[in-house]
Amino acid sequence: MNNAGEPIHFLIVDDLEENLVALEALLRRDGLSFLRARSGEEALELLLRHEIALALLDVQMPGMDGFELAEFMRGSERTRHVPIIFLTAGSADGQRRFRGYEAGAVDFIQKPIEGDILSSKATVFFDLHRQRREIEQQSKALADAAGRLEMQVHERTAELEHALERLRAETAERERAEASLRQSQKMEAVGQLTGGIAHDFNNMLTGIIGSLDLMRRRIEAKRYEELDRFMDAATTSAQRAASLTHRLLAFSRRQSLDPQPLDINALIGSITPLVHNALSEQIALETTLAEDLPAVLADANQLENAILNLVLNARDAMPEGGRLVIETAHEDFGMPCATIPPGLSAGHYVTVAVSDTGTGIPQDVMDKVFDPFFTTKPVGLGTGLGLSMVYGFAKQSGGAVQLDSRPGLGTTVRLHLPITAATLAHKGVAVPEATPRGDGERVLVVEDDPAVRMLVREVLEELHYEVVEFADPSDAVPLLASGTRIDLMISDVGMPGMTGRELADVARAHRPSLPILFITGYAENATLRGDFLSENMSMITKPFSLGDLAIRVSELTSSTVGTPIS
Ligand SMILES: Nc1ncnc2c1ncn2[C@@H]1O[C@H](COP(=O)(O)OP(=O)(O)OP(=O)(O)O)[C@@H](O)[C@H]1O
Ligand SMILES: [Mg+2]
Repeated sequence: MNNAGEPIHFLIVDDLEENLVALEALLRRDGLSFLRARSGEEALELLLRHEIALALLDVQMPGMDGFELAEFMRGSERTRHVPIIFLTAGSADGQRRFRGYEAGAVDFIQKPIEGDILSSKATVFFDLHRQRREIEQQSKALADAAGRLEMQVHERTAELEHALERLRAETAERERAEASLRQSQKMEAVGQLTGGIAHDFNNMLTGIIGSLDLMRRRIEAKRYEELDRFMDAATTSAQRAASLTHRLLAFSRRQSLDPQPLDINALIGSITPLVHNALSEQIALETTLAEDLPAVLADANQLENAILNLVLNARDAMPEGGRLVIETAHEDFGMPCATIPPGLSAGHYVTVAVSDTGTGIPQDVMDKVFDPFFTTKPVGLGTGLGLSMVYGFAKQSGGAVQLDSRPGLGTTVRLHLPITAATLAHKGVAVPEATPRGDGERVLVVEDDPAVRMLVREVLEELHYEVVEFADPSDAVPLLASGTRIDLMISDVGMPGMTGRELADVARAHRPSLPILFITGYAENATLRGDFLSENMSMITKPFSLGDLAIRVSELTSSTVGTPIS
């Protein structure tokens, strides 16, 4: 392409050397150089090699004349735009001129040449060419800049895409790392949980199995005098195991709760003697109970357990003595300025706060204390289930627990429970002195666990009931549909194939007033008894004492004797 420093070329073609010299002398100026040709052929060669601003052609030349050269130039892509001025010595009649213009001339100049005219015409072409060059250079510069810009945009986009790709990879990597951390934390928690359960159960099983073993030996040797001791030891271990499973179920929020409207102040009053006994003399117990406390809806036994757990934690935090305060308050988390504790919705709650002036909880332990089996106490002194139970119970009751602790100063644990509009239940549970007996009533027992089934049957038969038993609930259906007399059905809740609740529906379809007693380890999805039980149904949770079972059976069979089939 054009270069600004390069001279502009005029092609002059004439067969006479002196004409060429004269033309050159006439047109000479800065920035202009001449290409001379003595014939049309020579001129063509120069035209193909150079960029020409103006061709000045003599018309009459031997060989290829000026017109032929011009026609040739107009026929070639490379030279068709080169302006041509014919110089003619002959007479410039109309016909000649016509031929010249037809051949592509822009002008016709008669020899002898008038120097000024030719010079000014040549200047026009010189300037035109120079301007064209500048425009071409500018547009090339523009195109180059655009190209560079496009390239930069391209490079930048590629860089950004690369960065984005890296970011994506890093995010994926981080997510993978987080997932694997979560997984390992979960495995650690599960490990801690199963390890804790296994450890505690092994201790208790040792107590049970050991005692049973010793009893068998003593009975074989007919040495009956110390049997009571071993029986007590086995029962104590088994009861500890039962309370452990209770606390586990409480934590997993799958315990069977019996929420009733409760007066918390009265409940605290009733356990105060127990609390006193548990505390050393160096601990001062204070209770600050709010007046006119509304009733809460909660399971009384579990609430007692929860408060006792908190009291024992407070006691353990004050080995040198201190002050333990149990406080109740009515709180309205619906007020505009109230800060609602995490996990609660706005509304009215009763709060029981247990505070101590003990060691407090170090910051790094704080978020672990609710984990099951997390304990800082020596082996044998803490199972690490106390706060887990409190947490699970609070959640399951529609409330929450809040922990506030300052290392070295003490701890306050607040248990918030939702209030209820229902009036207080005054339950006077009359516990019969002696185990009640039956009188030949027929009891249908459906239980898939052979050991539990055997125990239930044994105890019922001992109490003078007649027992029909099934391991599989579907096997019991034909009997329920028959006319055979049945006075009570006892059914496990969780059984393969058909749940106890489904079996109860079948039973009630045939016998609408048949009393039903459920035995349950835990009733998933139906942990609140009220939702699960309908009229003349009752529930007893495993493990239960045989005395409890006898009382329930007696209560249910004495309400109706012999249910007619529908
Ligand atoms: N009032 C408190 N002051 C100081 N630390 C406490 C208090 N309450 C709980 N903790 C800490 O939280 C841990 C867990 O308590 P949690 O009640 O769950 O189990 P535990 O008391 O160790 O055992 P368990 O209650 O099963 O006998 C305790 O070991 C203790 O480190
Ligand atoms: Mg505890």
